[in-house]
Amino acid sequence: MPLMDRFLRHSIAMWLLLHSFVLITLCFHSATTFPKGCYPAEEDGYKTFRCSNALLTEIPKDIPNDTNKLFLDFNQITFIPNDAFRNLPALMELDLSHNAITSLESGAFRGLSENLHSLDLSSNRLVTVNKEVFSSLKARTNLSGNPWLCDCMLQELIRLIELDPGSSNEIVCNTAVQDEHAKKPFLQVVKDVDLCNIYKKTTDVAMLITMFGWFAMVISYLIYYVRQNQEDARRHLEYLKSLPNKQSKSEESSTISTVV
Ligand SMILES: *[C@@H]1O[C@H](CO)[C@@H](O)[C@H](O)[C@H]1NC(C)=O
Ligand SMILES: *[C@@H]1O[C@H](CO)[C@@H](O)[C@H](O)[C@H]1NC(C)=O
Repeated sequence: MPLMDRFLRHSIAMWLLLHSFVLITLCFHSATTFPKGCYPAEEDGYKTFRCSNALLTEIPKDIPNDTNKLFLDFNQITFIPNDAFRNLPALMELDLSHNAITSLESGAFRGLSENLHSLDLSSNRLVTVNKEVFSSLKARTNLSGNPWLCDCMLQELIRLIELDPGSSNEIVCNTAVQDEHAKKPFLQVVKDVDLCNIYKKTTDVAMLITMFGWFAMVISYLIYYVRQNQEDARRHLEYLKSLPNKQSKSEESSTISTVV
């Protein structure tokens, strides 16, 4: 009996040990499936995934696919590759602000649906972005605080997307196709000029100058021609004048003679 008792106690202890070991490994495992510095939460009934200020240099893998709001702000992400958020069909808000993003691949936001209603790309290092990147999105977008190049591409992009209303005046041209637009708010620039028509205007001007050049050449040739002819005509006239003068003199003398 005591032997049996000892065996039972022993096995219970073994079982508890094993159980806790399994629990510990499970806990450890689930902790490591989230990227370092990221944690999930439930906020106002929305599944939120926060990776703010986590020293990330790229979009983390293994973001739960039922995430509604994703915060990746204040990191060092430089590049958004194709299909970066493809497995997040429930995403409604995406905050990529305060990173070092310089480029977005044209399929960067592919897979994000009409659910996405807010996209924050403010305070990054975007200079130009192909409008294709946003082609399937309907989200309100904050593009402020980037070193934009104000050109036709940006004009087309901003025409396509829905700008976050509070942010639209903070889209400033860092550089521009026409120097005088640099450092001005984008919306102020496009009030006065169509950035997609500057090229057309310059070709129009070039055409006008060429046509004017041709016209001037034709006119000057005409003037030269007329002058030359005038000279000839004058000489010819003088010659002609000299002929009938003799004739008229002789006529005069003949009439005089008849009178006499
Ligand atoms: C998330 O992924 C699981 C399996 O990987 C799938 O069963 C589930 O439907 C997915 N959820 C969403 C919202 O796509
Ligand atoms: C857009 O982003 C800038 C910079 O992060 C921020 O100051 C501003 O409040 C944002 N605008 C809106 C409407 O969220």
